[in-house]
Amino acid sequence: MKALVLCGGSGTRLRPLSRTMPKQLIPVAGRPVLLHVLQNLRELGVEEIGVIVGDWREAIEEVLGDGSAFGARVTYIPQQAPLGIAHCVLIAREFLGDDDFVLYLGDTVLTEGVAGIAEEFTSAPTAARIVVQKVSDPRAFGVVETDADGIVTRLVEKPRNPATDLAVVGVYFFTPAIHEAVAAITPSARGEREITDAVQYLVDTGHEVRASVHSGFWRDTGRVGDLLDCNRELLNGLRRSVAGRVDATSEITGDVVVEDGAVVERSRITGPVVIGAGATVRDSHIGPHTAIGAGCVVEAAGITDSILLPGAAVRRVSDVHGSVLARESAAGPAARRLRLTAGRPAWTGAAA
Ligand code: TTP
Repeated sequence: MKALVLCGGSGTRLRPLSRTMPKQLIPVAGRPVLLHVLQNLRELGVEEIGVIVGDWREAIEEVLGDGSAFGARVTYIPQQAPLGIAHCVLIAREFLGDDDFVLYLGDTVLTEGVAGIAEEFTSAPTAARIVVQKVSDPRAFGVVETDADGIVTRLVEKPRNPATDLAVVGVYFFTPAIHEAVAAITPSARGEREITDAVQYLVDTGHEVRASVHSGFWRDTGRVGDLLDCNRELLNGLRRSVAGRVDATSEITGDVVVEDGAVVERSRITGPVVIGAGATVRDSHIGPHTAIGAGCVVEAAGITDSILLPGAAVRRVSDVHGSVLARESAAGPAARRLRLTAGRPAWTGAAA
């Protein structure tokens, strides 16, 4: 089985953060979302990975390279514009050939992985298997309807009156039957080739499509609140490890990772917390549930339940909470309102 990982898109909902880096590379619990995706793909034994890339191709390539560091071979497939998820399958036709594949949205975090569902797909032949999750309010999602045997009968995008509580998660297992479907459908009102329309085409043309329920933690990292939820969840699984330098006057409690080259002085760190490589923390209180990115500088500050993207600086602010600070941004006493630093947004608002 091959994999197709989607790393294009425009990330409108994550602006201004997504103006400084692609959302798939935003670190949660100190690691880019995309690397959490890759870890799940490795558990499936997938070796051939196609990666759809848009404007951020270079940044994505810098992290994944040729894939050998992850035991895989990566092929980059450029998408000229975000023309839809089904469009990604269409342009990956040559890479996918006649193999089965897993389509994985690059901004999706599933902490339990999908190995069990992959097993269901390979052991019980069906044209497609869609990963779904039961949610309390399905109106914001693609919703799947099934018959008594669990066969998908209908997919509806963001229904006003959902017929089930089964939301589409962003991971799909396909046989080559999908290629006819993505070519046959036409773009929707918003100008995108929708994967829900392609799957509906399979159903309407007599193919068997099934859904499998994932029950672990799931978020797509489309909004600041989702990033912070993922950060909290993944930090809860952290194990203490201190490679950087912590001075004798600092106090560290709980599961705290201090990466190589990081320096902690005269500070109190309450885990779970990650302090990224080369970061400096002085005279501050950090945590719980906080990820300080690589190369960040924190001085005389108090930060809880937050993410600092690489290179951000926080000085003399005692109450940063529920925030994501943009890459290379600066926050200080005068930065209670939005400021621009080197043309970049300095401060993003609190979580929704
Ligand atoms: P979305 O979150 O649906 O779209 P987006 O990334 O453009 O974000 P927003 O809605 O905030 O503008 O995309 C889900 C994933 O699929 C994400 O990793 C981006 C990727 N994608 C592509 O690679 N190409 C596309 O044409 C689309 C629509 C999405």
